[in-house]
Amino acid sequence: MSETVIRTEHLSKTFEKGKAQEVRALKSVSLDIQKGEVFGLLGPNGAGKTTLIRILVGLLTPTSGRAWVLDRDVVEDIDYIRPRVALLPQEAGIYERLTARENLIYYGGLYGIPDDALQERTDRLLDIVGLREKEDYQVRGFSGGMKRKVLVARALIIEPQIVFMDEPTTGIDTIGARVVRNMLKKISSEHKQTVILTTHDLHEVEELCNRVGILNDGNLAAVGKPSALEEEFKAANLEEVFTGLVTGEGVYD
Ligand SMILES: Nc1ncnc2c1ncn2[C@@H]1O[C@H](COP(=O)(O)OP(=O)(O)OP(=O)(O)O)[C@@H](O)[C@H]1O
Ligand SMILES: [Mg+2]
Repeated sequence: MSETVIRTEHLSKTFEKGKAQEVRALKSVSLDIQKGEVFGLLGPNGAGKTTLIRILVGLLTPTSGRAWVLDRDVVEDIDYIRPRVALLPQEAGIYERLTARENLIYYGGLYGIPDDALQERTDRLLDIVGLREKEDYQVRGFSGGMKRKVLVARALIIEPQIVFMDEPTTGIDTIGARVVRNMLKKISSEHKQTVILTTHDLHEVEELCNRVGILNDGNLAAVGKPSALEEEFKAANLEEVFTGLVTGEGVYD
């Protein structure tokens, strides 16, 4: 039986940009995501993906409409939601002066994870992302991809029910990206954690996501299983669906 863990109803966000200027980043987005799904949020630059994620983790308030995470309203009940969800931000929020290990321990500590469990999870996650040998180096000397790996590990240290990954593999090398993808598969299949992922890599989507939502200029243009969308839009693959929806080329009858 499926269990809805995220729900939005006519969710909209408008950013005011001074005199009579505004950006309508989300326009009446209604969406359901089920427990254990790996849900891919797709869309061109500026489509509203990060805005949607930021609303769902309580970093932004909606202009209108509503959203629920784990059955709680994101505006009224964010204190319930916060310790149960994790975010890998698109723009790094890493502590440059801390070591890789300290970044994980510090973050887990903020969530009140007991020290024994925290040390054990830190060992395991640093092993998985391949940074164990560099765990005592300050992160500021790390490459972009290495920082991303620290952030992925950090997001998972609290063993969240839902993990929002805003471009987790961007800037990570082929092997590292594979490791991250395998981790995401595993937490969804074995631990029934829900993953909401944004990426510009459609192969990654085909490999990982059981459903996708395509945002275009703040509108949810399509949502469904990749195979169902290909059928609906008479497209050979997800790239054709995406291109057709975003540019209006080719896939319509
Ligand atoms: N804090 C903000 N203030 C003003 N405008 C914003 C703010 N955050 C986002 N926007 C605008 O909202 C729109 C959606 O941005 P968002 O970051 O959600 O896009 P995105 O789909 O994540 O894009 P990308 O693929 O480039 O990460 C853009 O026009 C952006 O300029
Ligand atoms: Mg973004």
